[in-house]
Amino acid sequence: MPASEVRSVIEVCGVSKAFPAGDGAREVISGLDLTISAGEFVSIVGPSGCGKSTLVSMMAGLTEASGGTILVRGEQVRGLVPEIGFAFQRDALLPWRTAEQNVALPLRCRGIRKADALGRARTWLERVGLGQHFGKYPHQLSGGMRKRVAIAVMLAYEPDILLLDEPFSALDVQTRSLMENDLLALCADGGQSVVLITHDLEEAIVMSDRVVVMSAGPARVIGDHRIELTGPRDVFESKSDPNFAGLYSKIWNDLRAEVQAAGQRELAGR
Ligand SMILES: Nc1ncnc2c1ncn2[C@@H]1O[C@H](COP(=O)(O)OP(=O)(O)OP(=O)(O)O)[C@@H](O)[C@H]1O
Ligand SMILES: [Mg+2]
Repeated sequence: MPASEVRSVIEVCGVSKAFPAGDGAREVISGLDLTISAGEFVSIVGPSGCGKSTLVSMMAGLTEASGGTILVRGEQVRGLVPEIGFAFQRDALLPWRTAEQNVALPLRCRGIRKADALGRARTWLERVGLGQHFGKYPHQLSGGMRKRVAIAVMLAYEPDILLLDEPFSALDVQTRSLMENDLLALCADGGQSVVLITHDLEEAIVMSDRVVVMSAGPARVIGDHRIELTGPRDVFESKSDPNFAGLYSKIWNDLRAEVQAAGQRELAGR
């Protein structure tokens, strides 16, 4: 089928994942189904430890599923998927490389000439507000600036699909809101499909077309909510949208039981 006819960019079908535990295995994800359509912005929320990072890592081809299939643009994932950009939960900058060298590295690995790679790196660093900091090393940047570099690393090779694993969690509230709006603007320009993992339900609602709720392990999808807000997306304005409070309480209703179940399991040492 030609790529243009594939409307679903990611299809997760009956996927499970088990990790070795003691003499056996512990199933973290079980029979999980999820479809992401072209150009959609989908957030995934769920209790800590339920398997969100594991799921996006399987979508990107960094971790192998134990069962089921994952298709990206109709092709089964069997290793790293080049059209996917991945922002890790922990920031993964190389400390011995400057900001521009960090951003240029994946481009160089793809065979782009050094001068061109550095040119593109600088353009993206400017777009994330770091035009004055090309030559700084990660230890010379604040936590928020390092996150911006990590986002520039991902955006610089212009992937069609972005997988963002809690990209803003270490940021102060103000920087976070600015970066959320920047990301919305960049995605509105670029039309990428985005999967955002977050613990912040407000962030999930104001950023997304859909919010998906994962259950406490073994994880599956227990809620899938379409987000209809009236005005254009803006993280400052959208929280006062007339539909916001209703959506928040509906999704929190799904999520609360799972967070409680995960907490009880933790106490019981399972
Ligand atoms: N490589 C691994 N080996 C064994 N267990 C693992 C491995 N990676 C993850 N796990 C376990 O799988 C479960 C899910 O982990 P994962 O990191 O996907 O959760 P999460 O939903 O992203 O959590 P958080 O919200 O805290 O980031 C956890 O219990 C974790 O301990
Ligand atoms: Mg995680």
